[in-house]
Amino acid sequence: MIRPIRQLGDLILKMRARTLAPDDLSSDAIRALVADMQETLSESGGVGLAAPQVGESVRLILAGSFPSPRCTDRPLVPTEVLVNPHVLWASEEVTADWEGCLSFLQYRVRVNRPVSIRVAYLRMDGTDSEVAVSGFYARVLQHEIDHLDGILTLDRAASPEDIEEVGKPSGT
Ligand code: NI
Repeated sequence: MIRPIRQLGDLILKMRARTLAPDDLSSDAIRALVADMQETLSESGGVGLAAPQVGESVRLILAGSFPSPRCTDRPLVPTEVLVNPHVLWASEEVTADWEGCLSFLQYRVRVNRPVSIRVAYLRMDGTDSEVAVSGFYARVLQHEIDHLDGILTLDRAASPEDIEEVGKPSGT
């Protein structure tokens, strides 16, 4: 089921989301949430979605990467479910780039982020996993993990010049 995506101003987007226990992952509610998020993300055309964006304040994200007509240089990374993701390590090297968000398609925001990160998370089967990533997909992961802490790209803008109004959707 496609769920409505919570929009800027909705307080759930500003909350710190709850950590999930491995036992939670086999519950009908969480399985339904993941299926709904996959459907919602796929319909939106975005590359990432965090559970709070569909109204569930739990630490679960979907993240992937694929080239689009406007961004042909994006790598292809199949969309994955990450539970309780957290950044173990981040490079000192930082880059700025423009990011969209499905919760406010009307703005693009230029955000400084580490180029490379290592992230620990739970898989849906409850096992621990780790991933080391760089570039665009590392940016997607950091954007979605921020959502779990109630942090939006708008909060990370260093100056008004880093916020641009747009008409076209390009959400993560
Ligand atoms: Ni977002």
